[in-house]
Amino acid sequence: MCGIFAYTGSKGSEAPDILLKGLISLEYRGYDSAGIFTPESGAVKTPGAVAELKKKIPKGFGGKSGIAHLRWATHGEPTEVNAHPHSDSTGEIWVVHNGIIENFKELKKKLEASGHRFVSDTDTEILAHLVEEHLKAEQNFEKAAIAALNDVRGTYGIALQYKGEPDKLIAARMGSPIVIGLGDGEHFIASDPSPILPHTKSVVFLEDGDVAVLTPEKHTIYKLDATKVKRDPTEIDWSAEEAQKSGYEHFMLKEIMEGPEVVENTLRGRLRADGGAKLGGLEFVAKELGQIERILITACGTAYYGGLVGEYMLEEFAGIPVEVELASEFRYRSPVLNQKTALIAISQSGETADTLEAIREGKRKGALTLGIVNAVGSTIARETDAGVYNHAGPEVSVASTKALVSQLTALALFTLFLGRQRALSPQKAAEIAAELRALPAKIQKVLDDREKIAVVAKKYAQARDFLFIGRKYNFPIALEGALKLKEVSYIHAEGYGAGEMKHGPIAMIDENFPSVAIATKNSVYDKMLSNIEQLKARKGPVIAIATEGDAEIAKTADDCIYVPPTIEMLEPILNVVPLQLFAYYFAKEKGYNVDRPRNLAKSVTVE
Ligand code: G6P
Repeated sequence: MCGIFAYTGSKGSEAPDILLKGLISLEYRGYDSAGIFTPESGAVKTPGAVAELKKKIPKGFGGKSGIAHLRWATHGEPTEVNAHPHSDSTGEIWVVHNGIIENFKELKKKLEASGHRFVSDTDTEILAHLVEEHLKAEQNFEKAAIAALNDVRGTYGIALQYKGEPDKLIAARMGSPIVIGLGDGEHFIASDPSPILPHTKSVVFLEDGDVAVLTPEKHTIYKLDATKVKRDPTEIDWSAEEAQKSGYEHFMLKEIMEGPEVVENTLRGRLRADGGAKLGGLEFVAKELGQIERILITACGTAYYGGLVGEYMLEEFAGIPVEVELASEFRYRSPVLNQKTALIAISQSGETADTLEAIREGKRKGALTLGIVNAVGSTIARETDAGVYNHAGPEVSVASTKALVSQLTALALFTLFLGRQRALSPQKAAEIAAELRALPAKIQKVLDDREKIAVVAKKYAQARDFLFIGRKYNFPIALEGALKLKEVSYIHAEGYGAGEMKHGPIAMIDENFPSVAIATKNSVYDKMLSNIEQLKARKGPVIAIATEGDAEIAKTADDCIYVPPTIEMLEPILNVVPLQLFAYYFAKEKGYNVDRPRNLAKSVTVE
C-alpha cells in the first residue's frame, strides 16, 4: 500500500539524497504524506508529496543510513504527526510500516498502562514502543525486534532503525511485500524493487515471517523463532516502470492480480468466530443501524454496480428494503429520506463530486450517512457519519477492478453485520463467513487460468458489439462486464438482465454480435441456459462464465470460462474477475493504452 525505502551504506553523508530519489520512484502508488529519518539528523515529516518533504528538509541534513516512507493512510488522517517514520518514547527507535496491526488497540492499552505515551493515531507507532519495551529486557536490537514482532497480529512490511546502532537496519515481512537490495558495501530495503533498481539488480524477496538484519557489509535473515534462514538472491532486469507494476505489463493487470490479497485485506480482523462481522467504523452507530428501516445506496460508475449487488445481499440476508441510485440522479431530484434511512456512499476515491453531493443532500435531510470508501481521510470518508474502509490499497489504473472486488467484500461484511442485528441465523452467517474466507484461493484459481481468457479475448477481438447478460446477483456483474469493455476497448457493449433480453436487445443478435452470459450454477441457472439457447437460435456467438465441471453448458456455448463454485451471494466477487481479465486482454489485443483510456479520469471531481 504505502511505499518504504531504507538504506545503509558507507558513502559519506549521502543517505538522504538516495532515500528521496527512491521515494520519488514510489510515488506512482499514490500517497498522502511522506517522511524520512536518519540517526545523524533525526526525522522530517509532512503531509503531501516528496516535493513538500524536500522543502522541509533543513540544510546539512545528512546521514550514512536512514529510513523513508510514503504514506497512504489506513489509521488516522494524513497529517504530519501521523506520517511515518514513528518513534518510541525515547526517540531512539524509528519505524516505517505498511499494513495493519490488528491488535494495536489492546497492545496500546497495555503499553500506556506501563507509562508509554503515544503521539499519533496510527497502529504503526505501537511497533516502535514494543521494540523499546523489549530492548529494556533483551539489551539486543535484533532480539528486541523479533520479540516485538511476535507480539503483533496483522500484516506488516517494515524497516526499523535504532540510534544506538546507526548502520544497522531491520526489515520484516508478514503479508506486505518487502524486498532487500544487495549492493556493494550497501544494502537497501523497499516495498517494491523500483527504488532499488538504479543501485543494484540483485535482490532478495522476503517471505512471510522473515526478519532481515542489514549492515552495509552483510545481511542475515531470521525466522520469527529467531532461527536463521537462507534466501537466494534473484537478479532482476526490470525497468523502473516494470518494477512499479510488479513486472506486469499494466497496472490494470497488476490490480486484477491483487484480487485475492484485496479480499484478505478487506476481511482482515472483521469476521467474528460466530459468523458476524466486526466493523470498527460502525460500532458507534450500531444502535442507530439496529433501528433503520430502509437503506439507500448511492455511487457512480463501477461503485454503483457494486451497490446494486449490495441491494441483493442486504435484502436477502439482512431483510432491509434497499434502493440503489446513481449519485448524479439522486442529488438532483427530491429523494424522500428521514432519520430511519441509512444513506450509503460507495466510492473508491472518496472524492467523486456527485457522490459527495448526494451524501451532503442526505445529511441535510437527516439520514444517517455511511461510506464504503477506499481512500482514508478523503472527503466522503470525513463527511459521512461512519463507515467501512476497503483497505484495497491505491488503485492506479483508471478502470476500477480491485476496488470493486473489495467493495463487494465490504458489502458482504456489512450484510453480516446488519443481518445478525436482525433475523440472519448464526448458522447461515457462519456459512457465509466460511465462504468469504475461501474466496481468495478461488479468485487465485481464476487468475491462474488467465491465459485461457486471453485466448478467448483474442478470438473475439474483431467484434464491434457485445451483449453481457446475467440474472439476480450476476445482473449487476453483467453491467460491469460491459462497462469494463467499453472503458478500455472503446467497444459498444451493453449489459442487460438476461430476462429482459427478449424485450429489445435480442433484435440486434446475429453471427457478428457476440454475448457474454454469466451462467454459473445457482438458483437461476436453468433460466440462463434458456437465454443462451435463445441467443444461439439467432446464430449469436456465446461466451459463458460457468461453474467448474459444468460439461452441459459447453455443449451450447461457443466458449466457456470456468470459475470455482461458491454460494450465490458471493458469486459476483468471483465472476467479475474473468470479465475484468476479458476486458483487459481485449484492449491489449487492440493495442490501446489500457491504464489510461481516452476521455476518462480516475477521480471525477467535477459534475
Ligand atoms: C470514474 C472512474 C471509475 C469509477 C467512478 C467512481 O468514472 O473511472 O472507475 O468507478 O469514477 O469513482 P469512485 O472513486 O467514486 O469509486
